[in-house]
Amino acid sequence: MSESEAPPIAATSHPDVPRHVAIIMDGNGRWAAARGLPRGEGHRRGVEALRRTVRAAGELGIRYLTIFSFSAENWLRPKAEVQDLLGLLRRFIRHDLAELHSSNVRVRIIGTRDGLATDIRLLLEEAEQLTRDNDGLDLIVAFNYGARQEIARAARRIAEKAARGELSPEDVTVEEFSRHLDSPDLVDPDLIIRTSGEQRLSNFLLWQAAYSELVFLPVYWPDFDRAMLEQALEEYRRRERRFGGLVARTGS
Ligand code: FPP
Repeated sequence: MSESEAPPIAATSHPDVPRHVAIIMDGNGRWAAARGLPRGEGHRRGVEALRRTVRAAGELGIRYLTIFSFSAENWLRPKAEVQDLLGLLRRFIRHDLAELHSSNVRVRIIGTRDGLATDIRLLLEEAEQLTRDNDGLDLIVAFNYGARQEIARAARRIAEKAARGELSPEDVTVEEFSRHLDSPDLVDPDLIIRTSGEQRLSNFLLWQAAYSELVFLPVYWPDFDRAMLEQALEEYRRRERRFGGLVARTGS
């Protein structure tokens, strides 16, 4: 394998703190059901857990935080629940954007905006535009996101370039492919956390997760807090990352 074909490496500069943490915020529905509450209440409490997590991630020195807020498959849920989730996103951006901005958070969105309501598209654009020059925590919101769809989009962009004669087949390396994903400049996640006890990726960051450490926590998302984030970071620290080689190393 040539050097240029080497797998992309998460750019961790300090072995103790993962540079990029991605979270599958799972278990809102079960949290609500366990309390005899409507699922929507679980999602609402999930937004509160998200706020706590963004704050804690910044304080703990995490540079990039990606959250799975709405999957491309979530449209299959009952219409009322979809409306609930879309309403929460609207409210999250409207109410929290100013505070995120004043906390120097840069908001970025991955996923497709095709087919989204115009007001949601505008809110997503506003969040990105307002915060684009912030250099604190990067909050990457995966919205209307599916990893296979993202990979297919990248393949389509490459095919379009090839059709225009701007790329030839031998140009399509791992690095070149990565440059056509939704956030080409983003380092791969060092750590992916999933709450609720489920142990799968569910079409989240499949390309980028090649060498990510996975931590599954037996807690429903609305109960997630700073202590649990620290627990996941502690578990991450105990892992030995070899990226396919024999020697443990960080991705710096
Ligand atoms: C999984 O719980 C969670 C989701 C489908 C959405 C995550 C959304 C939030 C935390 C709130 C919205 C945040 C923003 C920024 C809009 P589940 O419903 O699958 O739970 P279950 O597996 O227990 O049913």
